[in-house]
Amino acid sequence: MSRGTFIAPSDDEGVRRFEADRTDVDAEFNTSFTWNPTRNLPLKQQRKTLPAYKHRDELLYLLEKYQVVVLCGETGSGKSTQVPQYLLEAGHCSRGKMIAVTQPRRVAATSLAARVAEETGSRLGDVVGYSIRFDDSWTPGRTKIKFMTEGILVRELLADPLLQQYSAVMIDEVHERTLFTDILMGLMRKVSRKRPDLRLIISSATMDAEDLRKYFDLSKPSEPKQTAAILSVEGRTYPVRAYYLEEPAADYVKASVDTVLTIHRKLNTPGDILVFLTGVDEVDHAARLLDEEVERNVRENGRRSGEMELSIVKMYGSLPAKDQMKAFFRPPPNTRKVVLATNIAETSVTIPGIVHVVDCGFVKVRCFSADTQTDSLGIVSIPKSSAIQRAGRAGRMKPGNVYRLFPEQEFDKLEPTLPPEILRADLSPVILQLKALGITDVLRFPFPARPPAANMAAALELLYALEALDDNGELTEPLGACMAEFPVPDPRLAKMLLSSGDFGCSEEATAIAAVALVKSIFVGGGGGQRGLVARQAKRGFEAAEGDSLTALNAFLSFVKVGDSVNCNSDKNAAGEIRARRSRWCAQNFLDFKALSRALEIQSQLIKLLKRFRIPLVSAKGDAVRVRRCVAAGYFANAAILHHSGQYRTVRGGVELKIHPSSVLYDQKAKRIDKMAQCVVYTEVLHTSEVFMRDLTVVDVNWLLELAPHYYKRGYLF
Ligand code: CDP
Ligand code: MG
Repeated sequence: MSRGTFIAPSDDEGVRRFEADRTDVDAEFNTSFTWNPTRNLPLKQQRKTLPAYKHRDELLYLLEKYQVVVLCGETGSGKSTQVPQYLLEAGHCSRGKMIAVTQPRRVAATSLAARVAEETGSRLGDVVGYSIRFDDSWTPGRTKIKFMTEGILVRELLADPLLQQYSAVMIDEVHERTLFTDILMGLMRKVSRKRPDLRLIISSATMDAEDLRKYFDLSKPSEPKQTAAILSVEGRTYPVRAYYLEEPAADYVKASVDTVLTIHRKLNTPGDILVFLTGVDEVDHAARLLDEEVERNVRENGRRSGEMELSIVKMYGSLPAKDQMKAFFRPPPNTRKVVLATNIAETSVTIPGIVHVVDCGFVKVRCFSADTQTDSLGIVSIPKSSAIQRAGRAGRMKPGNVYRLFPEQEFDKLEPTLPPEILRADLSPVILQLKALGITDVLRFPFPARPPAANMAAALELLYALEALDDNGELTEPLGACMAEFPVPDPRLAKMLLSSGDFGCSEEATAIAAVALVKSIFVGGGGGQRGLVARQAKRGFEAAEGDSLTALNAFLSFVKVGDSVNCNSDKNAAGEIRARRSRWCAQNFLDFKALSRALEIQSQLIKLLKRFRIPLVSAKGDAVRVRRCVAAGYFANAAILHHSGQYRTVRGGVELKIHPSSVLYDQKAKRIDKMAQCVVYTEVLHTSEVFMRDLTVVDVNWLLELAPHYYKRGYLF
């Protein structure tokens, strides 16, 4: 193991290298680790130990007097789990009304619903339920508290503009300021004007309360009575000691793995470890490095009796809900849990047992670029608010430690917060939703933060090119209306699916979309021999037409594996199909769970297409039809091969490199006349260079044909 500059604070040199945080309060620092002290109490009593409980009556009183309450409090104080229950207990759900609680992330919606159902002593889906994209568990007429993602509530507004089913709405985790948090705030402000009986709770883990209160306050000079109030709930946190690196880490994934091992082996302080990384690739990579290191250690030193083991758990948004839950389980005796997480663990979920946090110091953010006509993902330094939040995850049960993989001087230079996503994201999904909700003048919509006019214009232009909007800027019928209703995050993807009937490839298009929605289905083997075998396995599915068709090949082969199963009962057959597919995936370096989920999503998409009367047809191996259909959705994300051998966006002329994960990456070795002349991409990634990902080879002429108003000849040649 290479130790870099990260050395345990307990050894002499380490003490010099690490510097304790200025706040350095650690009276209890040496107390032995205990599990959540309230954990053994019955749930009813646990609830009363939460900081929110002290403010229960005050909250209910404020909700009698004010329409909107802005609720601020540290993560873990009981906002998400307790407040909906207080409302239920106080009779806010009389006459069949429900309480909606929105979450920016799917895992938060499902895990909170499970927790609150348990606390109310009911089955999940009964009194307490959830609704997320392609999955829900709630019972009309019985469910009182419904957790959901923000996007779902926006969709419910389409059918029920005044949200008559609900007596209260809690917009939770407002500090995240996702695209949909901002839209939802704007919409709820409008709804609350028309429904004075509706209570609105805006909850945030940060202290920006007064701005939020002002935004929601509907008092006018003529009617000076305020309609929004603030309630602050103090946190319950223990001191967290911060350690910094002397030099920035050259490779923070490796540095985080080294730090975990240092904590585990050298410091040997008890308690679970939470590592913050920026994305799925990094989480997978770190998990592999840790596994290898653990195996190597056992091989070289044997298993020593009494030595603590490591249990490595991954936690990220696209993981199936069941796997995400593993992070919450208590590890077996004599085992230390290491949770490798993305930003999801920063505020959305509370993972019990964490005493050490390893913070890589970075976060992946979306940023819209009018040049590439798409959001690009870039990795940037975290803002100070995130660094503090991440550290706070270590001080829930007892004093903890945070290991920041950057020098202390860098901490002082961090920006206070990240700007809201609406200021830097592709606005096309937002505008589509607002138009569908009947908001024709989107420029005058009361956004909590006004998005840049250039991004607004780019989004309107794209929606027009996609034929979702007409010359007057109105939603087209039926295409635009169906696109808005389609529960996929990108209007381009919706357009691809809705045109798939015309291109005669709806089966293939739904498969490509389903795979895109589960993110990655290929399992990389890392470096060395295993990596080589994994790459060879992927080659078996490779299509010269690009990544979408490669993924389609893998998906169709996966489905076929179950075809020949013949059993005497359906139940046996289902089990046998699962077993065969799982074995086959392991042999072919494919992710069985991701593919199974993609199959489920495909069937949901097919149901939706049926509802929109799109014929279900197969291209029967005709790749041109499929590629044309992909181009019909993604024409705006097109790059053309320049005579220098580089790709450039058709509009804007921005140079884009093919991402190394693409099947077209190797074509660099080919002669330029053998390279694809034109490709469309679904994602752009900013690292040291600008990469395009998820490519499909298309014909330049199709762009002119499919989007004549968007591409004039001049752009292409
Ligand atoms: O929303 P906020 O961050 O204020 O807290 P919460 O999610 O309501 O959680 C309150 C407490 O409930 C946490 O500190 C945990 O002790 C507990 N909890 C849990 O044990 N398991 C969950 N899935 C959620 C919460
Ligand atoms: Mg919460």
